[in-house]
Amino acid sequence: MQAASQQSSAQAERASALSGQARLPGDKSISHRAIILAAAATGTSMIKGLLEGDDVLATINAMRALGTTIDKQDNGDWRVCGVGPMGFVSPTAPLDFGNSGTGVRLVMGLVAGAGIDAQFIGDASLSARPMERVLTPLRKMGAQAKASNGCLPVTLTAAPLIATSHVPNVASAQVKSAILLAALGVQGDSEVREKIATRDHSETMLATFGADITTTEEDGYYIAKLQNKTGPTDLRATDLQVPGDPSSAAFPLIAALTVPGSDVVLENVMLNRRRDGLIRVLRDMGGAIELLNERRSGGESVADLRVRHSSLRGIEVGSDIAADMIDEFPALAVAAASADGATHMAGLGELRVKESDRLAAIEAGLKANGVALEAGDDWLRVHGKQNGIAGGGLVATHHDHRIAMAFLCLGLVSDQPVRVDDTAMIDTSFPSFFELMGGLGAKIV
Ligand code: S3P
Repeated sequence: MQAASQQSSAQAERASALSGQARLPGDKSISHRAIILAAAATGTSMIKGLLEGDDVLATINAMRALGTTIDKQDNGDWRVCGVGPMGFVSPTAPLDFGNSGTGVRLVMGLVAGAGIDAQFIGDASLSARPMERVLTPLRKMGAQAKASNGCLPVTLTAAPLIATSHVPNVASAQVKSAILLAALGVQGDSEVREKIATRDHSETMLATFGADITTTEEDGYYIAKLQNKTGPTDLRATDLQVPGDPSSAAFPLIAALTVPGSDVVLENVMLNRRRDGLIRVLRDMGGAIELLNERRSGGESVADLRVRHSSLRGIEVGSDIAADMIDEFPALAVAAASADGATHMAGLGELRVKESDRLAAIEAGLKANGVALEAGDDWLRVHGKQNGIAGGGLVATHHDHRIAMAFLCLGLVSDQPVRVDDTAMIDTSFPSFFELMGGLGAKIV
């Protein structure tokens, strides 16, 4: 838990029609990977549109401590002078990843493959999250890893690794990516076989940096295979453009759909198939979301989204789509409160081990604001719009950025303002949240 003195609460009031255009900040997943892969490449890479959230800044600091020079240019681009996958040095102090699960898990993989020693630490929330899902496959490859009851602090000690074929028992792009990053330093073919395919940004970006990586589907598995015929992967420095984050777009998106009369354009939103589950679900619920100016940017599809207020209806959201919108359930649950009828969401087990127990936080936050629901171990059923949304509740965010942003959006359509106990963590992923929402006409103070 953070000290109470660091908390800053905020409240959102019922809004009148939202309007205007807003540009989304860079994608968090891609920003982490851009810094890590540019550091592991040989030569200088320039990165445009990097998300400057606290999570990515923690990854930047960690890569600096591993011997990479990274600086921000006057034009806002980030310059990364890479050292090659085997050029990293053991840091002299523990690597502190703050709140960032993606940063810590990916860099554990990188460090294991680089043959150096490092200790990994984080804040109270990150220190309670499971790390064995990454350490188990890394140990199978030969890594020497010590954890504290499966959690941080974790210590990795240099050891030679061998190639592996691993089937993760959770749907997690962080696990897949950690194995692929460890495999950069390993001769032979390393593969991850996913029963449920997760976001593929590591695979796409590794290919962009020149790695020999293939992705196939076989016998119901999605397989990502990295091949090193003669030794460590030789990554080539590359300039990158980071596309806008669909997980951040989720908040102004549900706000525009639910606040009567709204008509907004959200610019620069990435449309990767493994990240667009929320858009698909909201369209099925009757949401008017139009894709404008579809284009390619940074190896990904990007579009501007025109979003208009819509009468949403409750639907069944099957577990098969959960991985494609795993970070968007707080936003969907809030949108579902404004829908006609019940929205049932299945396959939510992983929400229990995010920045907070998100399922419990969503349940408590909706109840505190008069929204009827039922919830189980890995499912949630929200009964929308029965008598409008009362609001007036204080939401415990548990220092979780997405819980804070989602419930501030609930306040925009509630009879009474909705208050969240803390907003400091919003800076981990969406530092411009208040400015962007205010620019569209939302009253959040
Ligand atoms: C991420 C993967 C997901 C997601 C997280 C970012 C990534 O986590 O929740 O916000 O960038 O690989 P899991 O791998 O734990 O599902």
